[in-house]
Amino acid sequence: MASLHGEYMQYTTLGRTGLKVSVAGLGCGGHSRLGQKTGKTEQESISVVRQALDLGINLIDTAEAYGTERIVGKATQDVGRDQVVISTKKLCPDPEGNDPSGELRRGVEHSLKRLQTDYVDVFYLHGVRPKQYQYAYDTLAPVLGRLREEGKVRFLGVTEAFIPDPQHAMLKRALEDDCWDVVMVGFNLLNQSARQRVFPHTQAKNIGTMGMFAVRNALSRPAHLKKILAELRDKNQIDPALCEAPDVLGFLTDTGKAETLPAAAYRYCRYEPGLDSVLTGTGSVEHLKENITALLKEPLPLADCERLTTLFGQVDCVSGN
Ligand SMILES: NC(=O)c1ccc[n+]([C@@H]2O[C@H](COP(=O)([O-])OP(=O)(O)OC[C@H]3O[C@@H](n4cnc5c(N)ncnc54)[C@H](OP(=O)(O)O)[C@@H]3O)[C@@H](O)[C@H]2O)c1
Repeated sequence: MASLHGEYMQYTTLGRTGLKVSVAGLGCGGHSRLGQKTGKTEQESISVVRQALDLGINLIDTAEAYGTERIVGKATQDVGRDQVVISTKKLCPDPEGNDPSGELRRGVEHSLKRLQTDYVDVFYLHGVRPKQYQYAYDTLAPVLGRLREEGKVRFLGVTEAFIPDPQHAMLKRALEDDCWDVVMVGFNLLNQSARQRVFPHTQAKNIGTMGMFAVRNALSRPAHLKKILAELRDKNQIDPALCEAPDVLGFLTDTGKAETLPAAAYRYCRYEPGLDSVLTGTGSVEHLKENITALLKEPLPLADCERLTTLFGQVDCVSGN
């Protein structure tokens, strides 16, 4: 671990935005919210962001709903604004509310204040459900378009609500439209369905992609994995024998392979064609270092990837939450 320095980070292009982003991005939401959900102090969370920047991560994803924008703002103040790519998001305002367009505009402006910046690189509509999509496109996307003209938002994005929509219904619809420069998509070794349903479309339109849920609970907590395997067996999405096996994913961490299951899980996503940057969410500097180390390693052995396709290639009903 001592040899991990920023100069080893690898960078890629975030689709048609042309932004150069690290292949590992720091996710400031999820179950950790930089540690704010697990009892860390603000200073400790700021340290996680600073450490990420020191290790070469230049992509930071946050959201109004996470409560971590202020932390990102404080942690990035000493960094040249053009040295960091910041994405943030807002849940769709209630369409029946007083002034949903105004609420979105005010939301963006408040995000800018909390982030202490004049613009965000990517502004996402957050966790859009399939039934919300048409409203988001008709009413909210034009507001973001105007904010882009004003220079407050550089690129427009939409993120899926992967827990209730593990089949990517919203994104499949969104990718028919041309206004989204970047999408955030759920992808992991248990639910690989974005490979057929999302990435061919993002690649055809050169839309940038950020990956979420690489590890989540399923691949960081063995008891949770067992529950998910039972759910998949009950829904006929895996071979029932997998639930009886003592260590279904043990082959990924055999001697000389990945150190841990989370490490294997991040590495698996890192090399998925069509996925530009893999977000890692953590409140722990140690986990951050481990995860960056894993993400910068060579691909998992081909035979292991093929085995994962055989085991889970049909799965599209769980997110791994
Ligand atoms: N719809 C949306 O827009 C949406 C939804 C979900 C997420 N996101 C974005 O995507 C990002 C990534 O999602 P996520 O944070 O859920 O992702 P993740 O990176 O797949 O999983 C993070 C979870 O795994 C644990 N973990 C991380 N590294 C570990 C390690 N080395 N060993 C053991 N446990 C480890 C973390 O806990 P520790 O704190 O203990 O490390 C945390 O509970 C979010 O932060 C957010 O920015 C967006």
